[in-house]
Amino acid sequence: MQKPKTIMVISQKGGVGKSTLADELAFSLDRTGTAYAFYDLDGQGGSLHSGHRDPDPAVAVVDTPAGLDDRTLKVLPQADLAVVAVNASGRDMSPLKKTFGVLDEAGVPYVVVVTRCNRYNVANDFIDWLCRKVGTDRVLTVPQAEAVPQAYLAKKSVVDYQRGGKCADAVIAFANAVRARVGLAPEAVKELRRRDEADSMMQAPAKVLADNTGR
Ligand SMILES: Nc1ncnc2c1ncn2[C@@H]1O[C@H](COP(=O)(O)OP(=O)(O)OP(=O)(O)O)[C@@H](O)[C@H]1O
Ligand SMILES: [Mg+2]
Repeated sequence: MQKPKTIMVISQKGGVGKSTLADELAFSLDRTGTAYAFYDLDGQGGSLHSGHRDPDPAVAVVDTPAGLDDRTLKVLPQADLAVVAVNASGRDMSPLKKTFGVLDEAGVPYVVVVTRCNRYNVANDFIDWLCRKVGTDRVLTVPQAEAVPQAYLAKKSVVDYQRGGKCADAVIAFANAVRARVGLAPEAVKELRRRDEADSMMQAPAKVLADNTGR
């Protein structure tokens, strides 16, 4: 039995996109047939993969409640990687610095994911600040996209829900960056694109028909 690589998704603030990121990591593992266990430390739930347990998992994905509660802090030192979710807001700088302090003290490596990113200047300023603070290679972004809550309602990955879209691409880049950090091979983006192309070819005749009939 291998010891699974443990990835914990954490944040000081609530509602910043932790469960979404944890679910997208699980979807990425699903797509590559990688065995994993999914733990939801948030009593209020909300993750699509809560309770998923493959035998002999290579990875443990841990979703947590906001605010680094006692349970999260207890498990944290066992993590191989923390994914820190944050929204691009000046208000988050101070709690974020505290979170980095906790992670450094626990000796847990981390990446920071700026979720629900928009094009406001404050978002760019925040990302600049973050890159200077932790290094560009540890900062990832996922844009604000309606496809994210829509995919959740459909119980799907945004990668399948909105193939080839900006948010889907950002989510693949996020999942692959995390996979690399725990020693997993990346998902083949080309394969995903090829699936897109196959889909659009299948949809093409319907589109031609609709165009010709004015529907
Ligand atoms: N990139 C995004 N674009 C648009 N909406 C998003 C994005 N990421 C997350 N959301 C939405 O924001 C809401 C909160 O996301 P999520 O539940 O993942 O946050 P959370 O940090 O787990 O919250 P909590 O602290 O309550 O557990 C959800 O409705 C989700 O669909
Ligand atoms: Mg959550």
